[in-house]
Amino acid sequence: MDLKTDFAGRYHILTYGCQMNVRDSEVIAGILEGIGYAMTPDLDDADLVVFNTCSVRHSAENKVYGKLGEVSLLKKKHPDLLIAFGGCMAQLDNVRARIKKQKVDIVFGTHNLHELPNLIEQVKRTASPIVQVYDRAVGIVEHLPSQRHGNISAFVNIMYGCNNFCSYCIVPYTRGRERSRMPGDIVAEIRDLAEQGFKEVTLLGQNVNSYGRGLKEACDFAELLHIVNQIEGIERIRFTTSHPRDMTDKLIDAIAAEYKVCEHIHVAMQSGSNRILKRMNRGYTREHYLDRTRRIREVIPTAAITTDIIVGFPGENDSDFLETIDMVSKVRFDAAFTFMYSVRTGTKAAALEDQIPLEVRRERLISLNKLQYSIAREINQSLEGTIQEVLVEGLSKTDKEKLTSRTRTNRIVIFSGPKDLIGRLINVRITEAKTFSLFGEMV
Ligand code: SAH
Ligand code: SF4
Ligand code: F3S
Repeated sequence: MDLKTDFAGRYHILTYGCQMNVRDSEVIAGILEGIGYAMTPDLDDADLVVFNTCSVRHSAENKVYGKLGEVSLLKKKHPDLLIAFGGCMAQLDNVRARIKKQKVDIVFGTHNLHELPNLIEQVKRTASPIVQVYDRAVGIVEHLPSQRHGNISAFVNIMYGCNNFCSYCIVPYTRGRERSRMPGDIVAEIRDLAEQGFKEVTLLGQNVNSYGRGLKEACDFAELLHIVNQIEGIERIRFTTSHPRDMTDKLIDAIAAEYKVCEHIHVAMQSGSNRILKRMNRGYTREHYLDRTRRIREVIPTAAITTDIIVGFPGENDSDFLETIDMVSKVRFDAAFTFMYSVRTGTKAAALEDQIPLEVRRERLISLNKLQYSIAREINQSLEGTIQEVLVEGLSKTDKEKLTSRTRTNRIVIFSGPKDLIGRLINVRITEAKTFSLFGEMV
């Protein structure tokens, strides 16, 4: 069979969720192009629509269900349209049961992106839907093709899955057990990116601090940073996310020592209450979290520390919440992603009885955000007048006459300048600070 002609058609990928999914969608795109599909930015124009889904919160799933209804309707106009449904939601029994009635042709999971060509071929041949999802990964599939976004900054997986089983979280169920890629495979991928002209890599894992567990060749995350720092052509190294429990002095020292490693550390706190942290199965206390963030600021005074926080976890009372507020005031996060707790079927926390009413969760979120935004604005304002090294990423989304760039601490800086600066590191002076971005001028 001539794959290229049999599969000729246009594909459109809908990506939801975290950077892992963004990266997986690049691989899905690479696989589809490899068998003759061409990307279309226009959903109505597609012969194949791929959903790459997220189940981390109820709201994420709802967006997908809404869109799936909409895309199913396109089949009326375009009966040959194929719908493929993959990603984290596809791993869950309750989701698969719910989408059964929808017009989905292919259901695939997070562990078998590489099987897409076979699945498409099978559906086309038999004209009947197919579900192929595996509970667990069979090792790591290397050397898959990929179609990356842009040519400046790239995501690089260093590990997959998660073993932490935080009691609220669905990720260990959708992504399977933690497994690390071999340092050699990671380095080869980054060298190749450098040759293509990429300037920045973001190393991805649910808990990068535990990188290397179970590898034959001993290598931990601090050592990996030292190795990646030596790759010529790459000018900036980022990583996400860190778990406070495994934030060792060795790792903090490595971040400080390697110039290319940007001083931005995303270390999810989740709660400031020891009682709630325990119920969340996080494996650390507020005192430990304070100690680790103090240590980071001691060794790397300019470091930006960002975090994730959940409000309204089952059993969270007013004084637990005030402890979270207290931690936010003490640590003074540069930025925080804040969430209302969302029940995930199958997790331990879903079975807890003392669920918090929506109204209370909402009020707590509003008051947390109010505090956090004022802190972020104050920190940003303290940068006015300073000179910052930025990597120019492209045209500003809100003002196409301007350029958008990022500081080492992951702040967005908008400024005016020639387009040929895109992809380069330059210095800008900060002229104005907002809560979520900065404005500057070239120096
Ligand atoms: N592995 C990362 C987190 C990935 S999920 C880490 O531990 O740092 C991203 C964030 O979503 C989590 O940090 C948490 O704050 C939030 N989250 C996860 N499950 C959630 C749930 N059930 N309800 C609300 N927020 C949740
Ligand atoms: Fe979820 Fe916890 Fe794993 Fe992060 S560390 S993915 S919050 S189980
Ligand atoms: Fe969502 Fe899966 Fe990422 S649940 S947050 S896409 S790992």
